[in-house]
Amino acid sequence: MQSVISVDLGSQSYQITIASDGLSQLGSLMTSLHLGKKVLLVSNPSIFKHYGQNAIVSLQGAGFEVTQCILPAGEQYKTATSLQRIYNAALEQRLERSSTMVALGGGVIGDMTGFAAATWLRGINVIQVPTSLLAMVDASIGGKTGINHPLGKNLIGAFHQPRLVLINPEVLKTLPAREFRAGMAEVIKYGVIWDAELFHQLEASKRLDQMRYVKPELLEEILKRSCQAKADVVSKDEKESNLRAILNYGHTIGHAVESLTGYRVVNHGEAVGIGMVAAGEIALELGMWDQKSNTRQLELIKKAGLPTQLPTALDIEAIIDTLQTDKKVQSGKVRFVLPTEIGVVTITDQVDGDVIRKVLAKMF
Ligand code: GLY
Repeated sequence: MQSVISVDLGSQSYQITIASDGLSQLGSLMTSLHLGKKVLLVSNPSIFKHYGQNAIVSLQGAGFEVTQCILPAGEQYKTATSLQRIYNAALEQRLERSSTMVALGGGVIGDMTGFAAATWLRGINVIQVPTSLLAMVDASIGGKTGINHPLGKNLIGAFHQPRLVLINPEVLKTLPAREFRAGMAEVIKYGVIWDAELFHQLEASKRLDQMRYVKPELLEEILKRSCQAKADVVSKDEKESNLRAILNYGHTIGHAVESLTGYRVVNHGEAVGIGMVAAGEIALELGMWDQKSNTRQLELIKKAGLPTQLPTALDIEAIIDTLQTDKKVQSGKVRFVLPTEIGVVTITDQVDGDVIRKVLAKMF
């Protein structure tokens, strides 16, 4: 299997290569980009154990000088301290403007490495080699990079497009099932916001909750169609002036749930699943879409093994308060992405607090 999808951004355009022997192509694909010889590979211990050597062999085989920076795994380490460790490694290796950081890992490694590359020497090359489904279909594409502030997720960051995204679906075999389901939430998101055909294909699959139950042909479609959806949206609106905000579908309530549960009880994908259920219910309440579409979305989220209810410990007023601190708030108004039919969404800041309260109260 080999597919190439273009992200068209003028002089910052790049390709997403999906290939089952992806890691062995890393060095040659980078050679064709005419990058400097020095490469800093950033990863976490378990991903590095599985795939680090393959990546290094491919890079060295193509003549790159590689050193590595291995950071602890987990959202709680997406911090200024980890960032400092990447900078220290960059300094030690004397990275230059033409040098490259390669992010080999999930969304946390990708976001931090992207931000380090955006800021080191005012910007060097970054290559994304995502190893989780969520990072493959979302985080690695589109140039959003950053770290968390103790008071909020992704509050510190920059737009910095990668030079290449290299996806090897084979690495999903070692991804824990819960992480696979988290990525599936973002895949379902693309079906609802952009690609009704992807939604149909997901509906036609008996199970979606574990990689081993998903047919290889469907997995290929999932990766290609999700990456294409993200590439289409980002190409039209790189800096989120308007259209790109639709990628935040399910993230408004989702981020509040994640933040109020300390990023420990539910992971990002699970929170997006809950957020999509809430957005669907709000759209239904406002008469923006019909019961049938809402039920189809709910069934798909359940089939992916994702939670569809709020954690019992959460307080509705605390969720409403947290919505106000979200990055998506504009002039004090919370912006929601709401579905109108499968494959189409709209953005609105006209959702009354009482409608949100009513929907949330039904979700315990
Ligand atoms: N994950 C949302 C975006 O990249 O815009």
